[in-house]
Amino acid sequence: MVDIRRAAPADAVGICELHRSSIRRLCSASYSPEQIASWTEALQPDRYLPAMERFEFFVAEAGGVVGFCIVDPNGGELNALYVHPGFSGQGFGSALLEYAERVAIAHSVARLRVKSTVNAVTFYESHGFRQVRRALHVNPAGLELECVEMVKDLPRGSRAADAEMESQSD
Ligand SMILES: CC(C)(COP(=O)(O)OP(=O)(O)OC[C@H]1O[C@@H](n2cnc3c(N)ncnc32)[C@H](O)[C@@H]1OP(=O)(O)O)[C@@H](O)C(=O)NCCC(=O)NCCS
Repeated sequence: MVDIRRAAPADAVGICELHRSSIRRLCSASYSPEQIASWTEALQPDRYLPAMERFEFFVAEAGGVVGFCIVDPNGGELNALYVHPGFSGQGFGSALLEYAERVAIAHSVARLRVKSTVNAVTFYESHGFRQVRRALHVNPAGLELECVEMVKDLPRGSRAADAEMESQSD
């Protein structure tokens, strides 16, 4: 059972370091050294704070933060999912993704979208996502990164079911 909790501002520095390491080690086969350098340089700890306020932002812990994910329930989008390279392949990514899906279901998201890095497409496919199209993701620094838009239809959550029951009883 992976320990997952809501991210707090005190986590921002650790999340930023993890994010940079994850990109450098786990995305380097799919992006150029220049892209990796520009992508990681744009990451700064204070950039995570607005996301903690606006979105559902969670971390996985194993003696420290080993992964994080960000869900935008209003946009129906998984904005980020990163695992520290020293902890990849141990189930943390899957646990965070399943948690993100449960959060989205609780917010009545019917279809969860993600702009997947090229290297993570197989990971998302193994979790029920399907490819929609190749696209460009523009990061806050204006860097264009090739990605793959993917979607997964989620089971209807209790809020959706409740809303339907209410509308039927009108
Ligand atoms: C993609 C990522 C989150 C997966 O996290 P993880 O903790 O390594 O994944 P898990 O250990 O839960 O792996 C689950 C399964 O997916 C497989 N898998 C993991 N990463 C994979 C990858 N990049 N490509 C293909 N399969 C992958 C594992 O082998 C495992 O398969 P199994 O269940 O048959 O053994 C992690 O590799 C990562 O942080 N990558 C870099 C950041 C990134 O690209 N994130 C996506 C942003 S949209």
